[in-house]
Amino acid sequence: MHKLYSEPAQMKILCLFILIISDTSENSSALYVVNVERNGKIIYTWKGNQRNTHIGSYDLQTKQNEHLYMFERDLRIISCSVNNERTLLAVSFRQYTEEARVSRLLQSVSKYLTLLIEIQPVNNVRVLKAVDSCVRVQFLYPVEDRKPSTESRLLLVSEDKYIEQFDIRVVAEEHKVVIQNSGQLPRARVADDLIWAQWDMMEQRLFYIVPKESRSTLKCVQFYPDENFNSILESHLDISVNDTQLKLVNFGYDYCQDQDVASKSLNLQVFTSKAGGLCVCYSLASDIPDEIMYSIYFLHKGYNKTFTVSLERTESHQLKEVAFMNLDYYVAAYLPGQFLHLLNIQHPDLPCYSLFLTGEDARIDMLQNCSIQSPLMSTVLDCHLGSMYAVSISDSALLQFLQNSKRDSERLAALHCALLYFRHTEDLEMQIIWWISDNLSTCHSFDPIQEFIIASLYCRMCPETHDLDKLLPYTSLLDWIGIIPGVTCATDIISLPVLEFQNSKGFWEKLNSNLESVKYAEPHLHYHSNVLRREWRKLSEEREERTTTVYLRNIFENAKKVLSHLDTWDSEERLVPLFQEEDYEQQLLMGLMVAQLKDHLMRHLQYVGKKKIDQIVLDYVANLLNLVHRILKEVWRRYQLHSCIFCFDERGSVGEFVVFHIMSRILEAANGMCMPLPPGFHTLHLGLGVRCLPLHTLLHYIDHGVLHLTETCVRKLLKDLDNTEKNEKLKFSIVMRLPEALGQKVRQFWNHPTNANFIARKYVELLLEKLGNRQCSRPVPERLSVPVEFLPLNYLSNMLADIENQDVHPCEKQDHVNVRFVEETALKHTMNLLGLKYS
Ligand SMILES: *[C@@H]1O[C@H](CO)[C@@H](O)[C@H](O)[C@H]1NC(C)=O
Ligand SMILES: *[C@@H]1O[C@H](CO)[C@@H](O)[C@H](O)[C@H]1NC(C)=O
Ligand SMILES: *[C@@H]1O[C@H](CO)[C@@H](O)[C@H](O)[C@H]1NC(C)=O
Ligand SMILES: *[C@@H]1O[C@H](CO)[C@@H](O)[C@H](O)[C@H]1NC(C)=O
Repeated sequence: MHKLYSEPAQMKILCLFILIISDTSENSSALYVVNVERNGKIIYTWKGNQRNTHIGSYDLQTKQNEHLYMFERDLRIISCSVNNERTLLAVSFRQYTEEARVSRLLQSVSKYLTLLIEIQPVNNVRVLKAVDSCVRVQFLYPVEDRKPSTESRLLLVSEDKYIEQFDIRVVAEEHKVVIQNSGQLPRARVADDLIWAQWDMMEQRLFYIVPKESRSTLKCVQFYPDENFNSILESHLDISVNDTQLKLVNFGYDYCQDQDVASKSLNLQVFTSKAGGLCVCYSLASDIPDEIMYSIYFLHKGYNKTFTVSLERTESHQLKEVAFMNLDYYVAAYLPGQFLHLLNIQHPDLPCYSLFLTGEDARIDMLQNCSIQSPLMSTVLDCHLGSMYAVSISDSALLQFLQNSKRDSERLAALHCALLYFRHTEDLEMQIIWWISDNLSTCHSFDPIQEFIIASLYCRMCPETHDLDKLLPYTSLLDWIGIIPGVTCATDIISLPVLEFQNSKGFWEKLNSNLESVKYAEPHLHYHSNVLRREWRKLSEEREERTTTVYLRNIFENAKKVLSHLDTWDSEERLVPLFQEEDYEQQLLMGLMVAQLKDHLMRHLQYVGKKKIDQIVLDYVANLLNLVHRILKEVWRRYQLHSCIFCFDERGSVGEFVVFHIMSRILEAANGMCMPLPPGFHTLHLGLGVRCLPLHTLLHYIDHGVLHLTETCVRKLLKDLDNTEKNEKLKFSIVMRLPEALGQKVRQFWNHPTNANFIARKYVELLLEKLGNRQCSRPVPERLSVPVEFLPLNYLSNMLADIENQDVHPCEKQDHVNVRFVEETALKHTMNLLGLKYS
């Protein structure tokens, strides 16, 4: 029996799981795939003994072969299809070659014959067509797992440029299934005057092109399971076709077709993606020998892009015909031996989100120099061998490509592919974080951290429903001026397709929503942080005024919700001390982001309930914080950092130094996008800074706002460090730089004369300030009862005591700080300076 086996094979970028069809019988002759049905059954044909022509099917799922029919003649099968119930077989074949017909005086016999055969069991045969023009057949398939039906519908496509549909009813009688209607089968015209047609088997759609003067119209008919067919789409294409021959795509595979003829005819294919993308790909003739041109109409975006690729080297025997493949998120334009262009369907605007591979990267071993077709998504057929391959992007190859890439365009494309195509794969994500942490400074035209966060967020949030993909940013880049060497691209606006459908779910609904957003939306629907930044700045500055408005309270309520939301779905161990402290600034930003994102979504998603939007927004901000946490956790692991980063009496390791720099870059990335960081981030950052940086550099970072003095960290620092000269210097420099409010809280933890001086000075300053504010009109009374010891100081303490007596206590939380304390500190300090001992 003929054996079919599958064998996985790793390729460079494309990983092919190969289904090789091979013949192990003794009189071996090649098997050829003639069709792939919707249920995954592959119809193939082979020549047996006595030159019989067999037709069989292979089930991809069960790996079973089934013999369907045998002709006791040597025929060239053109097209073949079996219905869902496997009771009927439609076959079209060439009876004789032209020469045989002439020599055997068979003029009256038609060149081609199309039959409808009962095969359960093999029984009656009906002639559907006996003509001199070639015919293709294709049964329609209902939605999957539907009950067997007694009704089958068959499409018949004629080279004479029309397509019709036959309705066939069967009845089951005595263990056999026969066609019910003995007369003419009912039929209907589906399309006329077409010059190109493509069958989309999975979705049961027929695309076809009708020429109209110098332009062409692309139409689509959708076949529904229980209804008739509906014409659903019309789109004008600026493609002039003067081909006289009908070109068919995916109506079976006629391996005997003259390759010369095939390669000269219109090379055009339509691809759809699950997210409502609709692309027309076609190759254009170029007059320049070392140049290839192809054009993609992104109908769902309203523009076409024409690519011109200069080839590095051409050998005359090489194909100059680009093959197109559909990988759902990408459309691939492939020229064996030259290049593999993976064009992003979802985000085709910036060329840097498409992978353009050349040389070794573009090599697909199994598909070296053959002419190929893409019958299904992620599947290619080698038209010469009749073999079919599953194609997909290999994540390990992609990672390797990312690591070896030399150009920013390659890095961006690979990063984008890894994050958005593979969607949230733990291990890949970890590898990417490692790559980013190693290669932060190799990227010049984009920030890999920003790109990682935005793209990962997009991918986690955007989802099948809600049109969120149009409202949330997928990239941190607004523009990209880089070029891909050897490729030029021209973009033109095109007219949008017209859709006619009612209550359609799935693809058509998504395409419609894509078109609506092209039609009505201002160009930048994606959420942007400009307003957020302004508001954040404003509120941060107002903080000093300590006015807690309802508005501000709501903002902080938002932040609290985000953090508790994060708690509910993040049970894994957290990096100390993230999320364990309050961070006014970051919580303010979080809360603001929630409020503004909510406004943004409410404006554009009016039909989605408020509750749902609340949920989405919380998810978004919580995910954002979680991603930062994830990056930190990975680099922590990678550089084997331990929790003793707050042991300030030791110097930091090399690993810590690297992580400190990565954290600085994360901070920069967050600032650039006005994006909140997890509370505790600044504490960690400062802790590492203290351990790793020399003092002057540390102070420089603090003064430039890179390092933030957080209460947790400064308190630890003041408490834990002993008073060696070096530590004193550090502590003093830090204390000097503390903002007032924080200073009041933490200075007390440092029991040191310098600190006491500082506190005393501050106290005097504050008291005098209060005095000034009160416009005290009374003259300061003389207090002669006090012994005169140190006049200037006595005078001052009298004055201060007086103010104190008026119930002014600037340092309410520190009971020991009073006039007495000031007096003592001043005396201690003076004695110190004079080198005397104070008792
Ligand atoms: C159209 O016809 C002309 C002349 O018959 C031919 O040169 C040209 O290549 C054809 N164009 C296409 C797109 O087939
Ligand atoms: C493809 O390559 C094989 C060898 O690698 C060669 O035998 C064959 O002729 C080539 N086919 C075409 C169409 O160039
Ligand atoms: C960083 O890039 C270099 C060269 O571009 C590469 O060799 C290295 O593997 C990359 N690091 C990671 C972790 O991928
Ligand atoms: C792209 O669209 C523009 C505008 O409709 C058209 O002029 C141009 O010919 C199209 N490009 C190709 C290669 O079809």
